[in-house]
Order: sequence, then C-alpha cells, then structure tokens
Amino acid sequence: MASLRRFALKCRECGREYEPAFHNLCEECFGPLEVIYELDGLDLSRDVFSQRIRSLWRYFELLPIVDEKNIFSLGAGFTGLLRSERLGRQLGIRYLYIKEDITNPTHSFKDRPANVAVAKAVEFQLNAVGCASTGNLAAATAAHAARANLPCYIFVPENVEREKLSHALSYGAVLISVLGTYDQANWIASRFAEESNTGIVNINLRPYYVEGSKTIAFEICEQLDWNVPDNVVIPMASGALLTAVGKGFREMRELGLVDSEPRLFGAQPLGCSPIVRAFEEDKERITPVGRPETVAKSLAIGEPGDGVYALRAIRRSGGAAVAASDDEILQAIHDLARLEGLFAEPGGVVSVAVLTRLIEHGFISRDETTVCLVTGSGLKAPHTILNRVAPSIMIEPTGEGLKRVMEVAKVAIS
Ligand SMILES: Cc1ncc(COP(=O)(O)O)c(C=O)c1O
Ligand SMILES: [Zn+2]
Repeated sequence: MASLRRFALKCRECGREYEPAFHNLCEECFGPLEVIYELDGLDLSRDVFSQRIRSLWRYFELLPIVDEKNIFSLGAGFTGLLRSERLGRQLGIRYLYIKEDITNPTHSFKDRPANVAVAKAVEFQLNAVGCASTGNLAAATAAHAARANLPCYIFVPENVEREKLSHALSYGAVLISVLGTYDQANWIASRFAEESNTGIVNINLRPYYVEGSKTIAFEICEQLDWNVPDNVVIPMASGALLTAVGKGFREMRELGLVDSEPRLFGAQPLGCSPIVRAFEEDKERITPVGRPETVAKSLAIGEPGDGVYALRAIRRSGGAAVAASDDEILQAIHDLARLEGLFAEPGGVVSVAVLTRLIEHGFISRDETTVCLVTGSGLKAPHTILNRVAPSIMIEPTGEGLKRVMEVAKVAIS
C-alpha cells in the first residue's frame, strides 16, 4: 500500500492491490475488490470513540472516505443494542441482544452502506447514483442522494412492496420497475452502470458500499463495553452484510480493541436459501434459486453476489447457515413486537426466526451471549404482516358498542 494512503483496494481472489479509484473488479482475474486499511499506523484506543458523533462516522478512520466534506449524513448508524430478556426467556437463553437497525433514517440497515457509497460518489465527482434493490436499498440510496443533491436511478423487481416504492419515489428518485426477478433488475442496472457514468452503489461502488455495514460490528463491540459476543445472527440476501460484519469484527481484533471474534450465523428464508443449501451440502459454490418464493421479499436474491464470501466467513468463524419458514418469520415478527416492543419486517427478522433452530441444534447455548441483527422496520411491509395479527374489533359508536369493548377487555360493567 502506498505509504501516505490510509486505504487501498485489494482483490479478494488473487490479492492484487490497487489505488482506491472508481472500480470494483480485478483486472487480472475479475475477482471483486475490497477495501484494506493501513491499521498499523492508526492510534485508536477504546476511549477515543466515546466522545464522538453518534453515527457510523464515529469510525471515520476505518471508512474509505478521504475528505469529511464529501459526507452527506442523515444520522445513519449508532443504533441501539437492546437486551431482550422476555424473548430470551421464552427461548431459554440468558443473554440475548437485538441490534435494532430499524431506527436508521430510512428504517433499515441499508442506510449505512448507502451513506458511505453516496459519499464516495461525491468524492469521485460522479454525476448521478443509483442501485439495484429488493426494496430497502431503494429508499436508503434515494434519501442520501437527495441529501447530496445527486440524481438517483433505482432498479427494482416488479413485486416490491408498494410502501417501499412510495418511500423511494418521495425522495425524487427515478424508479425503474423491471418485469422480472431481483437478479434480472440487477443485470439491467449493471449494464446501465457500464453505459453511463453513474455510481450504482451496490455494483460499481460495491467495495466502498459494503464498508458502511461493518460499522454494526464496531458498534456491538463498543456497546458491549468492548466484549465480543459469542454469536451474531445475521439476515442474508446477497451475503454482503454478513461478510462486512465479519470484516468489522476482524478489524477490531487486528486493532487490538477486542481479543476475539464471534461465531457468525447466517439466516435466510426457506423460499430463497441458496447460501444455506450450500452450507448444508458442504459445497464451496452456490446453486442459484431461479424464482424465490418468500414473504421476506427484501431477501429474495436468488443469485447471491457475496454468497461464497459469506459462506467462507461463516465456516471460518465456526458458525452455521440456517433457514426459517414463512410461518416462523411471521411468528418472529409477532414475538419481537409483543415481547420487546420492536416492529420488524419479514426480511429483517429472519435472524430471530432461526433462533429456535439454532438452540435445538446446539449451535447456541443458554449461557452464551447472542446478538441478533434486526435490519428492517415492520412499517415497510404492513400488508404482509396485517394478514397474520389478531383481527381488530369493529363496533358501532353506541352503548352496545361500548358493552362489546368491555366484554373483550374483560372489564366488569358497573
Ligand atoms: C432488511 C434486510 N436485511 C438484510 C438484508 C441482506 O443484505 P445482503 O444482501 O447484504 O445480504 C437485506 C437486503 O436487501 C434487507 O433488506
Ligand atoms: Zn484478482
């Protein structure tokens, strides 16, 4: 790495290093590039962070932006880490925590990578940004693009929840609905990126984009008072989030801020679980799912771009990949809301939905510390969820109506 640079790009496959410019693939082997940092020269102690801004930018030295003036922040990051005593008790585990990434500016963890990628687009002086999205990245990219005053092009599959579309459109993005799957929308977005000078955050800005997500690992270390949890359970679609969180814990250890790394558990919905299948069949490669079928639409990526890296990170950590059925996912939404007061969307809660299975299979035990990432808000998929909850009661605004309410509430009539 050139001596004056804080960071560079490195091929994940052949290891060749590059200047941190606007590219995402290795010229030698076409492997994906990732950001590496000059950690040795960094003088970061545990105390440094506590006084800093309460957003992901508190870890500025570990993020791939050169000049702070290029950052357009809406406050993404530094979300809560909640101890979940009631849900933990129901499951029979003592130290369960929820990383509530539903409180980000557009209500999913995607604000983290979108914030970093849009900052990088500003730094590269690109004229426009965009993304291929299963729904959440659309709003996150559109919001940060609006903040940075950049035009934004969003490519989504046709079956995305309407709430997610209206959210992204409100920020002024151009929305392109592709009559097909996410993987097909992603293909069109890549071609568009090649033909234009647009920074597609999760395609040609991907090495920078994924760096935003690793801040979840930094926050967990800090919020547990620099203790590393035994287990971290993470929803997976492309596998980028899990890979990035693994990288975050590794960097914390390499910096000497913590002395171990957690086991990583990846969670997918049964109707779209190509990474889980490869894990169960002990394979290196991933067989794509042609037509994903799941209530967790935000996780419906049949051909996961970072799947092999997520698999490697899971295996290296001693963790596992497991799937949950649609019923288990909807039940997890209900449990988390009822027991902890947190309202999550299907894709964001699959980490909670697999907990029972992880405990039954002995992957997680009673006295260990487990953190579940909950990555998207229930407000993004209300119709899917409404089908599952108990029906409301409807009454006339009369004495009879009140009587009915008293019966339901089991209040004695005086
Ligand atoms: C709510 C939510 N959680 C998790 C993920 C998984 O992210 P990744 O594609 O990085 O695996 C997504 C992806 O869209 C998502 O929307
Ligand atoms: Zn290479």
